[in-house]
Amino acid sequence: MRLTEEQQKILDGKEGRILREAMRNLVKYGTAMGAEEFIPITSAHTAFSAMDVVALCFPPRGRELTKADVDRLSKEMEDVRVKVKTTVNPGIMDRKKWRQMGATEAIYKSGMQAVEVGRKCGFMMTYSCIPYLTDNIPLMGEHCAWAESSAHLYINSFLGARTNRDSYETSLYSALLGITPNFGLHLDENRKGTDLIDVQCELKNTTDWAILGYFTGDKVGIGIPVFKNLRRPTTEEAVNLVATCNSPGALPMLMIPGASPEAATFEGAFKGSKPRNTYVFDEAAKGAIYQNLNYQAEGKVDLVFLGCPHKTLYEIKEIARMLEGKHVAKDTRLWVMTASSIRDTAEELGYAQIIEDSGAELFADGCLLLYYVNAPAKRPNMDRVALDSPKQAFGTRRSFHSNIVVGDTERCVEIAIKGGV
Ligand code: F3S
Repeated sequence: MRLTEEQQKILDGKEGRILREAMRNLVKYGTAMGAEEFIPITSAHTAFSAMDVVALCFPPRGRELTKADVDRLSKEMEDVRVKVKTTVNPGIMDRKKWRQMGATEAIYKSGMQAVEVGRKCGFMMTYSCIPYLTDNIPLMGEHCAWAESSAHLYINSFLGARTNRDSYETSLYSALLGITPNFGLHLDENRKGTDLIDVQCELKNTTDWAILGYFTGDKVGIGIPVFKNLRRPTTEEAVNLVATCNSPGALPMLMIPGASPEAATFEGAFKGSKPRNTYVFDEAAKGAIYQNLNYQAEGKVDLVFLGCPHKTLYEIKEIARMLEGKHVAKDTRLWVMTASSIRDTAEELGYAQIIEDSGAELFADGCLLLYYVNAPAKRPNMDRVALDSPKQAFGTRRSFHSNIVVGDTERCVEIAIKGGV
C-alpha cells in the first residue's frame, strides 16, 4: 500500500506502540484486500467491552497474552485518543442492573475498567447495536469503519454511508487512526445489486421482516440483494430486516428500490448488470423458517427475550402498552433489552415503570449472547426461551441449547403473561 509520510511515521513507531500496531494491522488488512491506499473516515463503530478483550487487538508477538500485558495496555491507552466519532457495541453487563442480570463483582469491575479507559480515549461508551438511530448517524457518502453484523449493513443500505464489513479489531484500529483501506464498499463500482429477491407474501410484523432477512442471507451468501415487490419498511422493520441477514450470510449491503438512497429504481439498483440469481420468498419459504425455529413449541417458557437488535424507544412504548395493567407469570421472566440512552428516556417517559410494574425487566448495554457467552455471569434458566428475534433465537439455541419459540412481539408478551405456549 502507498502510505503518506505521516502514516509511514506511525508505522515506524514514532507515535508509540499502540498506533504502530494499529497501522501495521490495517496495512496487512488493506494489502490482503487489494487496497492501494487509505482514505479518511468520519466515524467508526467497534467493541470495547473489557480490557482483556481489547488486549486481543494488540497481542504480544510470538507468545500468549498475559495479565501483565492487559495491565500494560490499559496504561498505554491513556495516551491515545480516537480520531473520529466512535460508538461501541453491546458489552458484557448492564452498567446499572448488573446484579439483576447475574454479573459478579469481578465482571462489573472489569466492565467498568473498560468504560473508564474507553471514555478517556474518546470512545462514546454507548454499548448499543443500533447506534445509527441514536448517537452515530453518518450521512450519504461518508466513509466509515463499522463492525457489528447488522449495523454496517444498515448504514450502507438505508443511510448511503460507506463501510466494509469491518471486524471489531479493524474498526478499533481505524477509530484510533481515522483511516480505512480503500476497497470494497468504499468504491462506487462495488455498490450495486448482485441478486434478486422476489417477495411474494405479506410481511405482517417486524419478526416477519427478520425472517425475510434470514432467507436473504441464507440464499445470497456473499453479495448485494435487491428486493422486488417489497414495500417501503418502517424504521423498525428495516432494523429487523438487516439484523438477521448475516446470521447465515455475509451481506455488506442490500437495496429496497424507493427506500434505499442508492436505489431510486429497480434497474438503477443493478447499475445495468443482470442479477446472477433470483430467489422467491413466499408463504412456504417463510413458514419453513418459522417451523425450523419453533421446534417443540408447546409448554412452559422460562424466559421471554425482546430486544435483538436493541429495542427503539417506539418499540418500548408499544411493549409498555401491551403490558399496562398486566402481570408476567410467576415462573417466567420477561426481559426487554435496549441502549442505556433509550432506557434513560423510557424511564423519564414512564414506559420503564409500566414495564417493571408488570414484573418484566428493562435491561441495557448487552443481550443474552453477550452477557452469558463472553463472561461467566450467572444466567437465568433458559431451557425454554421465547423471542421475537430470529437472530438471537439461532444464537440462543446454539449457545445455550435452549428449546426456542419465535413469534412476533405481541405473541411473546402474551406468552410471558401466560407463562408458556
Ligand atoms: Fe445486538 Fe446482541 Fe442482537 S449485539 S444485534 S442484541 S445479538
